[in-house]
Amino acid sequence: MHKKIILAGGSGFLGQSLAAFLIDKGYEVVVLSRQSPAFKDGVQYVQWDGVHLEDWMSEVDGSYAIINFTGKSVNCIYTKKNRAEIVHSRLNSVKVLRTAINKAVNPPQAFIQAGSLAIFGDTTNVCAENAPHGTGFSVNVCEQWENEFFKETFPSTRQVMLRIGFALGKDGGALEPLKKLAAFNLGGTVGSGRQYISWLHIDDLNEMFLKSIEDQQASGVYNATGPSPVTNKEFMMILRKVMNKKWAPPAPAPFVWLGAYAVMKTEPSLALTGRNCMPKRLIDEQFTFKYTDLEHAFRALI
Ligand SMILES: NC(=O)c1ccc[n+]([C@@H]2O[C@H](COP(=O)([O-])OP(=O)(O)OC[C@H]3O[C@@H](n4cnc5c(N)ncnc54)[C@H](OP(=O)(O)O)[C@@H]3O)[C@@H](O)[C@H]2O)c1
Repeated sequence: MHKKIILAGGSGFLGQSLAAFLIDKGYEVVVLSRQSPAFKDGVQYVQWDGVHLEDWMSEVDGSYAIINFTGKSVNCIYTKKNRAEIVHSRLNSVKVLRTAINKAVNPPQAFIQAGSLAIFGDTTNVCAENAPHGTGFSVNVCEQWENEFFKETFPSTRQVMLRIGFALGKDGGALEPLKKLAAFNLGGTVGSGRQYISWLHIDDLNEMFLKSIEDQQASGVYNATGPSPVTNKEFMMILRKVMNKKWAPPAPAPFVWLGAYAVMKTEPSLALTGRNCMPKRLIDEQFTFKYTDLEHAFRALI
């Protein structure tokens, strides 16, 4: 019998990529989603609301691992309402999954949370897992999220928090809007260009999830990013090179603010801030990164 992996909120960018990857590895995959139940591309979609314990909890009982991707996208304008939904969707899903694990007769051996490197705030200092946290709304969300996740330990379920970096994949994620800008010759440096982008290829991220599922020693917090972060200036330059685009005018911070609010309907700080993170624990544990060079990663995707 195939081992069953539950992907809560697995209908999005990261979850869909991991679902296909895990099926390929011989796992059974169940996605918990607010959408109608369905069976598609080998994946069973089971309905939940991310808040209440309902029929879906029978899927958790006897599963091998749970990975939680649930959360309102941070790619929006941070109105009071959006901020509240960003926080609550994350905390509620952690709480209800914890209750389901506690009630299971045969609980999963691993509970894995897709978290974020945004906990380090806006910094050019090198951040390994134990670096100081930053300040601001996103940092605060990450801190509440991690505290909720580690609030309780389980007798037979390992807990792994992957603080994910800027994941580069084919269909979706943060690379999409940047590719569009570059296609219109607008792929210049954003803001000062000195803010760091801690990037990783989605294939490497899927391997990190697999390690978290299978490695019985894996537990606690990991920086889930590549070993070669770059500045925004370098990132945009390499993107233009791969897309055969010449120099493009830089977008100074005031333009980014205006464009983000008025055109892209998103939070400008997402593009104007950054962090320089190191996957220290993964390196120490001899994780093999397939993509350590950004140009190589882009060429595999674009
Ligand atoms: N992509 C990245 O590079 C990246 C980097 C760092 C951290 N992360 C974190 O990793 C997680 C997954 O990222 P992703 O890119 O796959 O996100 P995504 O594409 O937005 O998927 C998240 C899923 O969460 C569910 N969801 C959204 N709002 C919800 C709400 N209010 N209540 C309950 N469920 C809700 C949706 O599923 P249904 O509509 O099917 O219910 C959605 O498909 C997120 O928490 C994100 O912050 C991502």
